[in-house]
Amino acid sequence: MNPRSLRTLALVALLGGCAAAAGAAEPPVIGGLEREGAEKIAGAVLVSELGCAACHASGQAAFAPKMRPDLSAVGTRVNGAHLRRFIESPSGVKPGTTMPDVLAYLPDAQRDDAANALAHYLASLGKPVASALPAADAVERGRKLYHSIGCVACHSPEKTLPGSVPLGPLTEKYTLASLTAFLQDPLAARPSGRMPDSHLERAEAEDIASYLLREQKAAAEVFQPDAALATRGKQLFVEHRCHACHSTGEKVAPPALTALSKVRAGEGCLSDKRGAWPHYPLSENQRASLRAALAEETKTWTPAEQVQLALTRLNCIACHQRDGLGGVASTRSEYFTGREESLGEQGRIPPPLSGVGAKLKAPWLREVIANGAGVRTTMNTRMPKFGGANAEPLVAWLKQFDTLPPAKFARVPEAAKPRNVGRELAGTKGFNCIACHTFRGRAAAIRGPELTTMTERLEENWFHHFLAQPQRFAPLTVMPSFWPDGKSTLPEVLGGDPGQQRDALWQFLAQGPEAGEPAGLVLEPLVIEVKDEGVIVRRAFPGIGKRGIGVGYPGGINLAFDAAQMRLASVWSGGFIEASGLWRGQGSGQARILGKDIVNFPPGPAFAILATPDTAWPAPAAMTEKSPLSFKGYTLDAQQRPTLRYAVDGFVVEDFFHERRAAAGKLHLERTLKFPAAPPTGLHFRVAVDKLIEPRGANEFAVGQNLIIHLPAAPLLREANGAKELLLPVRGEVKLEYHLTAKP
Ligand code: HEC
Ligand code: HEC
Ligand code: HEC
Ligand code: HEC
Ligand code: HEC
Repeated sequence: MNPRSLRTLALVALLGGCAAAAGAAEPPVIGGLEREGAEKIAGAVLVSELGCAACHASGQAAFAPKMRPDLSAVGTRVNGAHLRRFIESPSGVKPGTTMPDVLAYLPDAQRDDAANALAHYLASLGKPVASALPAADAVERGRKLYHSIGCVACHSPEKTLPGSVPLGPLTEKYTLASLTAFLQDPLAARPSGRMPDSHLERAEAEDIASYLLREQKAAAEVFQPDAALATRGKQLFVEHRCHACHSTGEKVAPPALTALSKVRAGEGCLSDKRGAWPHYPLSENQRASLRAALAEETKTWTPAEQVQLALTRLNCIACHQRDGLGGVASTRSEYFTGREESLGEQGRIPPPLSGVGAKLKAPWLREVIANGAGVRTTMNTRMPKFGGANAEPLVAWLKQFDTLPPAKFARVPEAAKPRNVGRELAGTKGFNCIACHTFRGRAAAIRGPELTTMTERLEENWFHHFLAQPQRFAPLTVMPSFWPDGKSTLPEVLGGDPGQQRDALWQFLAQGPEAGEPAGLVLEPLVIEVKDEGVIVRRAFPGIGKRGIGVGYPGGINLAFDAAQMRLASVWSGGFIEASGLWRGQGSGQARILGKDIVNFPPGPAFAILATPDTAWPAPAAMTEKSPLSFKGYTLDAQQRPTLRYAVDGFVVEDFFHERRAAAGKLHLERTLKFPAAPPTGLHFRVAVDKLIEPRGANEFAVGQNLIIHLPAAPLLREANGAKELLLPVRGEVKLEYHLTAKP
């Protein structure tokens, strides 16, 4: 949170109901508006961001109001006490917010009552869910993510930057659970797409929420909505025209006020006078822009302006530059990073959008904007997802507006075997595209965009223009020109004809994943080696599915953990995995376990609460929203060994494995299970299931053909469906050992 909003909060706390009069209000901050070149469209952006046409009808499409937060379940998301403070004085509680102060004109006592009733009404829409407090390790992971995946393109980094979209007092507004849910699907609560979806995995959303709520040290009191007040609030919601901007799921006719073309620009909402209209704490500049925009209400917007308008509203220009507008601001550039140094700026700064409508095919363009699809695997910033409704008009404008003249070339006739020639050109004896581009997942020296999906994404015409003169499209590109001055560097192929050579490449690549490997592409097995530190691979493993986590430990002992069922799935010794199936064939494959002596454990959860020691073990749980199991990520020790964290019915387990060498020189795995809270009665840990489980001395059991397990205390050995089950009642920390022996 920035210091200013902290100060405001203190004021609100001090002055209580008088906060609105404290004058803490600050003009609304709209990302993108302050960028150079945005002046011409600033007024129209303001009209739409501030929702003027939600109350004053307008025929101007560019003025269509942005969609405001959907309040139909706001009681689940937002703390009731905060609702009350925010409604009473939006910009006092969240300086820079775009929500106007609707109650500003009321005398203090009346405003207080109205805000209170409205808060009771809104809090009655939904129910808060139980939540934990942020954990210190999650805060650290969240801080890293927040500053690297793109949040600070629009919001302030920890080191406060002016012009950032305000976040307000999040610790008062959300719980860890509700903020996590919001971040995982912001478009559900805020359909406008102004706050896009960064496709966070649950654990990532929780980490970022933990970071944003890092000051939260105690749970807020649960707000109990009062039924009578809620009924009154529901009336006020319509009386004060909140419904013009917000949906609560109820159908109410929108207010019919003076049309925007008829309002007197120095009056009402555009004046400093107080009256029964919303109060916007606008700056003089903003007011002037608004007036200018209203004066031109009937203007026809050119396609170029329409595109600018859309890119500014959605603040695409915080990350992208297009025809000189926007681009990563110099003050935020340090937060845009990549994992491939050799790509230079192209490896960390999102691509420019100039001419992008001529570059990308419509379905892919839609996929990128609506769903955040991408191909630059080494960039830390993510292309967010803006949703179909927000993407559609933009895709149409870009496709219509961006054009390139048709490239002139003669297609290579079938008889000249274009695909074979293209294959040759792509390989080491040709232009060596594979030196810098991934080919069917095979990582090249520089991890440039995948070659075999290019023709699916790119317009053929653009491909010709780009290959002919890459610098014309990206002045700093690493991508070389193979036809300097229009002359091929390989004059003996297809008579040295540049157009034909490019066509051969296109035809070859158009085979997609079926394309034959270019010469020089060595598809050697991708053996993942483990040296003196742990190695983690989060992918599909045999018998687990997508949510596998493989860990190789120094010395040659390995495990695969199932982060869907929260169980140890396999243990083996020797080599770790062979991963060509993961990164080739578009990642649909599985890791191949390399070692010997593999021991597999049965599917199904490893922890369960049993009513009696005879209760049957529960069946594998489906990973639904209601699943009692949830994976919470992992932390690493100095040697990169993970401590896996997961919850069973809300009860947290910390699971750590460490390779240890026994006296006989053989490596085994020591496992420590810790429980931050006291285990509930009846909690059992299922150590193993096998036809063959035999005691071999005090707390030592032989399981199957080649595994010996040491346990800390006397376990329970029982029959289950023709096999044996080894269970351990859990009362506190558990330490056990897995010793692999050679198969007989
Ligand atoms: C929640 C509904 C609402 C929103 C949103 C709203 N207004 Fe108003 N506005 C009113 C009401 C109510 C009045 C006073 C009654 C009237 O003039 O119709 C008013 C009056 C005005 C007037 C004076 C009209 C006159 O001729 O006396 C202007 C100008 C105005 N609004 C401009 C705006 C602008 C610009 C915006 C967006 C920044 C905006 N309004 C947003 C409800 C709204
Ligand atoms: C393209 C700009 C953009 C990016 C990128 C972005 N946000 Fe936002 N965010 C916004 C805007 C604009 C709003 C306010 C939306 C509105 O007016 O409805 C917002 C709202 C929020 C809110 C709600 C604040 C409240 O009062 O409830 C949170 C929390 C938030 N953003 C966090 C994040 C996080 C975390 C990330 C990165 C994962 C992120 N944002 C990425 C623009 C962005
Ligand atoms: C001109 C349109 C407009 C009007 C009128 C309006 N709001 Fe809002 N409201 C917004 C916008 C925009 C936001 C998002 C602001 C932000 O996050 O900074 C918002 C946010 C909210 C939120 C927070 C929602 C969340 O999920 O974080 C609540 C609650 C709310 N408004 C209630 C009200 C009530 C009650 C009224 C009537 C007294 C009202 N609003 C009138 C535009 C409006
Ligand atoms: C937080 C930063 C961020 C914001 C905001 C953002 N983008 Fe992106 N965008 C990216 C990144 C990063 C990529 C590269 C993704 C990849 O290929 O993996 C990208 C890629 C793209 C591409 C593909 C370009 C190409 O040549 O392949 C398009 C098109 C695009 N973005 C459009 C948009 C639009 C339109 C908006 C606004 C609605 C937007 N972006 C907002 C970060 C952003
Ligand atoms: C020296 C390294 C290098 C070589 C060799 C190379 N490229 Fe590239 N190429 C790149 C880089 C780096 C980019 C990434 C540009 C970016 O991120 O926007 C690129 C981008 C492209 C693009 C645009 C892709 C997109 O989605 O934006 C195409 C098409 C392309 N290369 C085709 C080829 C072909 C075909 C060959 C062989 C004839 C080739 N490249 C050889 C480095 C190379």
